[in-house]
Amino acid sequence: MNAKEAKERIDALREEIKRHDELYHRQASPEISDFDYDRLKRELADLEEAHPEIASEDSPSMSVGDDRASGFKSYTHRLPMQSLDNTYSKDEFFAFVERVEKALEIQELPFVVEPKIDGVAVSVTYDNGKLTRAVTRGNGIEGDDITKNALFIEELPRELKGKDVPRTIEIRGEIFMKNEEFDRINAERREAELEPFMNPRNLAAGTVKMLDRKEVAKRKLNVVLYGLGYCEPRVVDSQSEYQDRLKRWGVPLVEKYWKVRGADGAWNAIEALDEMRERFAYPTDGAVIKIDALDYQSELGATSKAPRWAIAYKFAAEQAETILEGITIQVGRTGALTPVAELKPVILAGTTVSRATLHNQEEMARKDVRIGDSVIVEKAGEIIPAVIRVLIEKRPADSAPFTFPVKCPECETPVIKVDGEVALRCLNANCPAQVRGRLEHFASRQCMDIEGLGIAVVQQLVDRGLVSTIADIYQLKFEDLTDLEKFAEKSARNLVEAIERSKTKELWRLLHGLGIPQVGASAAKDLANAFRSIAALRGADLDTLVALDGVGEKTALGIIAFFENEANTAVIDQLFDLGMNPLAPEKLDEGEALLAGKIFVITGTLPNMKRDEAKAIIESKGGKVSGSVSKKTDFLLAGESAGSKLAKAEKLGVEVIGEKELLGML
Ligand code: IVH
Repeated sequence: MNAKEAKERIDALREEIKRHDELYHRQASPEISDFDYDRLKRELADLEEAHPEIASEDSPSMSVGDDRASGFKSYTHRLPMQSLDNTYSKDEFFAFVERVEKALEIQELPFVVEPKIDGVAVSVTYDNGKLTRAVTRGNGIEGDDITKNALFIEELPRELKGKDVPRTIEIRGEIFMKNEEFDRINAERREAELEPFMNPRNLAAGTVKMLDRKEVAKRKLNVVLYGLGYCEPRVVDSQSEYQDRLKRWGVPLVEKYWKVRGADGAWNAIEALDEMRERFAYPTDGAVIKIDALDYQSELGATSKAPRWAIAYKFAAEQAETILEGITIQVGRTGALTPVAELKPVILAGTTVSRATLHNQEEMARKDVRIGDSVIVEKAGEIIPAVIRVLIEKRPADSAPFTFPVKCPECETPVIKVDGEVALRCLNANCPAQVRGRLEHFASRQCMDIEGLGIAVVQQLVDRGLVSTIADIYQLKFEDLTDLEKFAEKSARNLVEAIERSKTKELWRLLHGLGIPQVGASAAKDLANAFRSIAALRGADLDTLVALDGVGEKTALGIIAFFENEANTAVIDQLFDLGMNPLAPEKLDEGEALLAGKIFVITGTLPNMKRDEAKAIIESKGGKVSGSVSKKTDFLLAGESAGSKLAKAEKLGVEVIGEKELLGML
């Protein structure tokens, strides 16, 4: 990236982050997950580090946001309320420990590991043991005085117990709302036909800032305290001692914290915390690892934004408990039946989830999933939420095992278990669910990428009998589209144009879109490179196919069977009659095919490019990108938060490279 591009990106990121800060801190209604927000902040910090000439005092990378609202008195914290540096990566966490141990010249440094509570930060001042003030973080220096609202929190001590209380102390912590209370309030709102709140954290943040005390009184908030702000005189020497003291003073504490030594000790505690955190009363989104001794903390000090003696390790995958209210069966484009959990809506990684996959019949049987069960659902990154286990101890006495249907729920054809496959299948090629699925797949981004031809449009076109095969798409007329629901002339025209444009897209897209069994995007690219036309592929025999890299016998047999089926070839012929003219891949000159024959796997978040972009770069140079690490893998391209793939690559001795090395190879 040159200086001009960096400047543009930095400006764009600053704008974007400021907007999200405003949404999160002031409006209590964020649009993106913490994970995505942290990613933006990280990108900005890295760019600013690489281009110090573009640094600016008012960059959001230098601040902790600002929650101050009108209607509250401001109060200056005696000690600023800082934020924490955070990471999602084990390697970065270990690097943090190495850094602080080196700076202090101590091995196996004692740390405290605490849950990171996902609430609203608060600083509570006690003078001579009596509560005098509760203040929000504000901009870190100055916050809003929310004492009146905080006093509605029953468990917030008005007075510290015991004789050893300091003259003045700021105790920091988080205000939060329990899930039950959140559900209760939302149920009431639904009844009153009001828009429900999005999640407990936002509702807690909104409540703390309400000026109508009667309303505040109706919503139950809770608090947990863990942090030491200003304290005079100093009464403890370490964070662990402070936790003990808080307990004696009668303050609501974290349910558990760990006193450990060194990186491995801390890591074990982080894992133990992750195991048990769903049972805590408050939502947690990570662990906070702090150097225990206050003297060492002061020795390391802080940056303008965060202390150097602590770090937050955030858990990307989130789990939640909910009730399985029903099970529906979805029929995919290949006829496979997938069980789907219909859930009592639950918040997961910041979004409301009401459906999750149950994978297949075998998985369901293995977990013994039944309607009415309490289940744990998990969502990691962009992955679809899944039911990962059942809480058998909570199972209702009258529950019965789920019986899988023997007929296709869409077309009533008896379903069949094909040898060697896990899924049950509907073998009726005209099953409406399969017809829709094939069309959706063909038009999807991974295939022909026909904008405007999504699930809802496909459904209408099929219902009206306008299309049943992919060739029919190319017979659609402008007039057919104008009376579709929510379709104006403009959208109809756009769709007609998008369909027309798709005729000349890359050959691999068409190959992938045809839905040949076993042929995913990667095999489609191999086949397009090797055969360069559908006609050539159609004439290939088994030996030629299996001789290709990336094509096994099963795939080869799938391809042959597909082209032996007359219905398939009729559709293909029709497609070409209607003007399909796919673009064959360019032949790479030797010089360009720098990565020919090399197999890459990509994992984690890369610093400057999306995984898709890295993939396109590798493929443009003749390399291949596979989804899983094996002995055949030549390189693992690993970014931040690389997990199991990295471990596997290391185990197999596969060379691990970063974005820089990749670009270096070219
Ligand atoms: S210690 C100097 N410990 O997370 C800042 N913070 O994302 C020291 N938080 O600002 C903070 N749980 O509001 C600390 N166990 C914990 C925490 C915690 C939640 C909040 C806190 C902090 C924010 C950073």
